[in-house]
Amino acid sequence: METKEIYKGLAGVPVDYTAISKVNPETNSLLYRGYPVQDLAAKCSFEEVAWLLWHGELPSEDELAAFVADERAGRALTPEIRQVIDGLSLEAHPMDVVRTAVSVLGANDPTTEDNSAEANLAKSKRMFAALPAVVAYDQRRRHGLDVVEPRDDLDYSQNFLWMAFGEEAAPEVVDAFRVSMVLYAEHSFNASTFTARVIASTTSDIYSAVTGAIGALKGALHGGANEAVMHTFAEIGSADNVVPWLDEALAEKKKIMGFGHRVYKNGDSRVPTMQAAMERMIEHYGRQDILDLYRALAAEFTERKGIQPNLDYPAGPTYHLMGFDTPTFTPLFVASRVTGWTAHVLEQNAANALIRPLSVYNGVDERQLP
Ligand code: ACO
Repeated sequence: METKEIYKGLAGVPVDYTAISKVNPETNSLLYRGYPVQDLAAKCSFEEVAWLLWHGELPSEDELAAFVADERAGRALTPEIRQVIDGLSLEAHPMDVVRTAVSVLGANDPTTEDNSAEANLAKSKRMFAALPAVVAYDQRRRHGLDVVEPRDDLDYSQNFLWMAFGEEAAPEVVDAFRVSMVLYAEHSFNASTFTARVIASTTSDIYSAVTGAIGALKGALHGGANEAVMHTFAEIGSADNVVPWLDEALAEKKKIMGFGHRVYKNGDSRVPTMQAAMERMIEHYGRQDILDLYRALAAEFTERKGIQPNLDYPAGPTYHLMGFDTPTFTPLFVASRVTGWTAHVLEQNAANALIRPLSVYNGVDERQLP
């Protein structure tokens, strides 16, 4: 067998430059285009953050006004997408529904094959505007509810919650939702973003890159963890069951979802901000029981294994408190991360090199057919 060194899972291997975000595990910080994500979460709308990721700078007043007007004009579920979603099984995982909807957007867009930066930026903004209606409608149809049309007097976060629940959300709920969207938007070369870049590197189209990224995000080791956290909470039941549940889970060598990270080994920089938003939701909805369980599991698991929570740990319960059903959590992550994915596709295209690593063959030696 060849003896080349293997970088299993590409762990620790830098594969390209990026100017979109900087993850620094030593200082536990995350910058989007140079700005600390905590500051963006405190001061910016999600629309401003999306623009920042694509353009590298925050929008001017005029740029923001034009972008917001376009986003509001592109919110409605088109009849074509609705027809395709209605043809899907009610049992389909919402991530499969969102992935299918992006495929429909791509198949029906006459500019799909135009890979110019200008056309791809327009498509990025189109997906950003269109995805909330897909996520909201799919949740509603699974509960036997009809579509709620978007409202153009509401901002992105207000309107998302409006389309999901058919009522205006309280300002503190809108704010916690906005914070989650800002925190989920971008995280350098994570698995789904890397998937998008691999697809873009073949000069395929941006919808294909996003469709592939959705597939990568679905897995429980990545975005699917926010959904898995809630399944864990449901299994544990209450704080006083944490110790026996964890004894058994660890004895069975189970991964505890919402903990651990490939890059951050001393805690995820986004957790304090998301946890603060979750705590505001705990207070808003009067669910101290969830906070007790959240704290008990985090304390017990971190003490035993030294592994810290990641962003999905506080995000899952936050979405649950807001009223989203558990399978909708990862599609919410999609609606946010589409900004980062598409920014990376634009960056990949601007200085492209086909992504094609090597493997080391360890199968049987060459042999002859009988
Ligand atoms: N539960 C139990 N043990 C864990 C966990 C966990 N959540 N995370 C890491 N470990 C253990 C591993 O079992 C392994 O132990 P070992 O050395 O005894 O075999 C060791 O810690 C190293 O873990 P790896 O999985 O090798 O580390 P890697 O960097 O590949 O994994 C990952 C990172 C996949 C995120 C991992 O921590 C995990 O599976 N976490 C649970 C899923 C999750 O929450 N994913 C969300 C990621 S963040 C995001 O997408 C926003």
